[in-house]
Amino acid sequence: TTTTTILAVETSCDETAVSIIQNGKKICSNVISSQMETHQKFGGVVPEIASRKHVETITLIMEEAIKEANIDVKDLSAVAVTQGPGLVGALIVGIVAAKAFASALDLPLIGVHHIAGHIYANQLVYDLEYPLISLVVSGGHTELVFMESPGSFQIIGQTRDDAVGEAYDKVARALGLPYPGGPHVDKLAQIADAEIELPRAWLEQGSYDFSFSGLKSAVLSVVNQAKMKGETLNKPQVALGFQNSVIDVLVEKSLKAVKQYGAKQLLLAGGVAANRGLRSALQARCEIEGIPLLIPPLELCTDNAAMIGAAAFLKWEKQDFSAMDLKADPRLSL
Ligand code: KG4
Ligand code: ZN
Repeated sequence: TTTTTILAVETSCDETAVSIIQNGKKICSNVISSQMETHQKFGGVVPEIASRKHVETITLIMEEAIKEANIDVKDLSAVAVTQGPGLVGALIVGIVAAKAFASALDLPLIGVHHIAGHIYANQLVYDLEYPLISLVVSGGHTELVFMESPGSFQIIGQTRDDAVGEAYDKVARALGLPYPGGPHVDKLAQIADAEIELPRAWLEQGSYDFSFSGLKSAVLSVVNQAKMKGETLNKPQVALGFQNSVIDVLVEKSLKAVKQYGAKQLLLAGGVAANRGLRSALQARCEIEGIPLLIPPLELCTDNAAMIGAAAFLKWEKQDFSAMDLKADPRLSL
């Protein structure tokens, strides 16, 4: 048997990441340089700064990933890169670097969808069984994806406004917490003694779509009312109320999709998969219903290049390569 070794690059947002993956499973190296501190003082990712930082670090990160994997570049089989969605300037930096490297070594190029990457992070640790349902929750995405077979993606539901992580970050800001706020809201919710009841957006009967902007507005109104009345806000109670509202809808719709589509597994993916409330609620419900639930380890939930290498291996098996004029697509569809 031959070994397929893929060098993968991910620069769609504020992480410069390069990884070397064998046969879509074995992580030889997984290097991530986060720009979080740079963007923190602006309260969010500044696209122009993100691109510039990627330019500064991408070559170094590539060198580090190769060195750490302890491989000869002559043994590489292909170069994979996130094509989209994401910030266009940030994506271009990774694509240009991947193309340059691929042409210098005469290797095929494989463009990967960022969400396919998040989903296939699960393949680095588990054996996937189809058909399956994936719940992708991150700063930029909230999607329920049905997969009949490897590489076939059908989005059955998605957010109509804010992504889950985005809602978390906005609520955190309203509560005076630092960016990115998701983990801080999560922590506050853990220490709450009660919750402030907030609305749940179920949308039309049978819809797998989500909406979080109404909930975010409800939180803002609670915060403002307390301010107007001169009352001290019980932040943990607000955090728990918000989190329970988000989790209820995510869990209900995911489980309904698993049943309706006859899925053998439920996969969780994306940065918000780090949320303790969501993990334990999904675990509890899946256990009762006898549904196998897969959640990647935390470092593979947030943006990384190992997941891009895992998704790229699938395309490699089909010899589904990209042309050398591959273009960044900030709104690439799955
Ligand atoms: O997947 P990711 O690293 O980047 C994107 O592709 O968007 O996700 C980042 C998002 C941020 O919005 C962050 O606040 C959220 O994931 N997040 C959390 C938690 N940890 C990260 N949200 C809720 N609870 C957490 N523990
Ligand atoms: Zn992501």
